[in-house]
Amino acid sequence: MSKQLDIMYEGAFCYPIHLEQSFDRFIEHYRSLEGANHKKVCIVTDSDVANLYLNEMIKICKNQFFDVISFIFPSGEASKNLDTVEKLYLKLINNRFDRKDLLIALGGGVVGDLTGFAAATFLRGIDFIQVPTTLLSQVDSSIGGKTGVDFSRFKNMVGAFYMPRMVYMNTAVLYSLPQVQFQSGMGEVIKYGLIKDAAYYQWLKDHKESILALDDATLEEMIYISCKTKKAVVEEDPKEHGIRAHLNFGHTIGHAVEKLSDFSLYHGQCVAIGMGAAAYLSSVNHGMVSAVYEDILRTIESFGLPTKVAGYDAKAILEATKSDKKMDGGQINFVVLDSVGEAVIDKSYNDEMLLDAIGTILE
Ligand code: GLY
Repeated sequence: MSKQLDIMYEGAFCYPIHLEQSFDRFIEHYRSLEGANHKKVCIVTDSDVANLYLNEMIKICKNQFFDVISFIFPSGEASKNLDTVEKLYLKLINNRFDRKDLLIALGGGVVGDLTGFAAATFLRGIDFIQVPTTLLSQVDSSIGGKTGVDFSRFKNMVGAFYMPRMVYMNTAVLYSLPQVQFQSGMGEVIKYGLIKDAAYYQWLKDHKESILALDDATLEEMIYISCKTKKAVVEEDPKEHGIRAHLNFGHTIGHAVEKLSDFSLYHGQCVAIGMGAAAYLSSVNHGMVSAVYEDILRTIESFGLPTKVAGYDAKAILEATKSDKKMDGGQINFVVLDSVGEAVIDKSYNDEMLLDAIGTILE
């Protein structure tokens, strides 16, 4: 069953999100976009996704575009940098791409963020389409126009807000997704329930068996509700001046763990660990009863996600947390919960309180 959500920007239609169960309707939906007359397309993807879906996308695109080329980079966070962007620029220049041409990001969060950044900056901006192929990119990173790459030691430090022309999701790709990547996406899915929608959090717990069994209808419903939640947040605060920061729940300490693990842990696993620490602070300082904190930990774990890490030093995690970009005048913008579904930002945490929270995630 197809589903569509439209993302608005400053009150006007900006781009559609299509949920489909194959790539078959890609060109049909592309043709319904205003100004759908791009001449050339470059499909940007990584080495893993290229093996699975690139040939199919090339074949589909050849029905529409005069020239279809591809750019493949090695999969993984280590490629998410300006060197890869430079190689992509050169490929576009060598193939005489201009502003009437199009990029397609076929892959997970790294592919989407990097392609979006290249699209935002090449010739001061060319169109791009997101075709997210992981659960995490379908429910989160392909929506809302955040693009960028890592720089030096810093994650997502260089980037731009730049909106795609369309987001096309084929939920059938999730059957070929490694289990650990599916679990990683569940970290962001659970986050939506925790920050914004207590009924959705309960729904996730009630549907755990069918979610883990990858039941079509349940997955589609779960992705749809997650995208609707993200839509509501990014429409209200597209450039993260306020409520969009709630999406960073679990990310402050999560990013620090991700960085210290040298990206050997998946993003959603680190977010899960960070959500555990943030839920702890919510129970200590924000009136969340400790039974709810325990319930959050058990729920995260029931989807195969970790709530603890071994082998890290609490002070190193604290230092990495403070070097993250989610700071405001030297204070950490920490997202906590007043209750499930009610996120708030608290800037009052000092080192001692943060070390206390970090202590709860160390094995
Ligand atoms: N992934 C967080 C955001 O889009 O703001």
